[in-house]
Amino acid sequence: MAEIIDGKLVSAEVRKSILSSVTEFKEENGFVPGLAVILVGDNPASAVYVRNKHKACLEVGMNSYEITFDKNVSEDVLLAKIDELNQDEKVNGILVQLPLPEHISEEKVINRISPDKDVDAFHPVNVGKILIGNYDFLPCTPAGIMELLKFYNVDIKGKECVVIGRSNIVGKPMALLLLGENGTVTVCHSKTKDLKEVTKRADILVVAIGRANFVTKDMVKEGCVVIDVGINRLENGKLCGDVAFDEVSSVADKITPVPGGVGPMTITMLLKNTLTAAKKQIKK
Ligand code: GUN
Repeated sequence: MAEIIDGKLVSAEVRKSILSSVTEFKEENGFVPGLAVILVGDNPASAVYVRNKHKACLEVGMNSYEITFDKNVSEDVLLAKIDELNQDEKVNGILVQLPLPEHISEEKVINRISPDKDVDAFHPVNVGKILIGNYDFLPCTPAGIMELLKFYNVDIKGKECVVIGRSNIVGKPMALLLLGENGTVTVCHSKTKDLKEVTKRADILVVAIGRANFVTKDMVKEGCVVIDVGINRLENGKLCGDVAFDEVSSVADKITPVPGGVGPMTITMLLKNTLTAAKKQIKK
């Protein structure tokens, strides 16, 4: 049986260290870092994420500002709020919860956030910095996965790393981070021919495609480290990942569960980015 990569445990460890860094920050600077989160509309999943981000901020001693807009808010009003937050010294990090209603351009919204406050690392300036390898922030999910691999002493150098999924939020930055640690990286997607032939080569397999139980035992090499980014809700109401956990854990060396694997790390990395942003802003 594979060893379980416990995201709750690692997350709690990292949050302890963030709490003590925030305390130190406050002693040195007389204020605590602040994160502003904007929620537009009434998507129930987004509302849960935003509430969890708010709670997490308070737990590590940071300020959290929650700004909610009706789903019919105009793009101009939203952009004006971002301009205001960009100027607000109490706000060190800004996050606009995605997805946005269709009449609002996500691209325009992301581009409007000051790169220095872009704790999601979605702004093109930050994406470019990640590509070059000289960055301030990393997108929270891939950053959380790198922390998990480090905590469980998974060596990446020279390893065959396969990422399934090529989103801007997870797949693409994940591939760059693994490459940055000298992995040999392959990115697979819906047009990949003979996916199983590729995934079978993986020493480290990261799955982020949003299809319940998609990766099965026959697609995984014995001894592989399997990271499951998926969160899917089955008809019976249960949550499951993109990996068929029970069967894959019989061949993998290490595996993340869903829930309790990658998920808890994402908000933790957001807190870390907010602290980094605050530290950078006082140096300016
Ligand atoms: N919606 C789902 N995941 C994310 C995320 O990481 N950041 C933002 N801003 N919205 C999301």
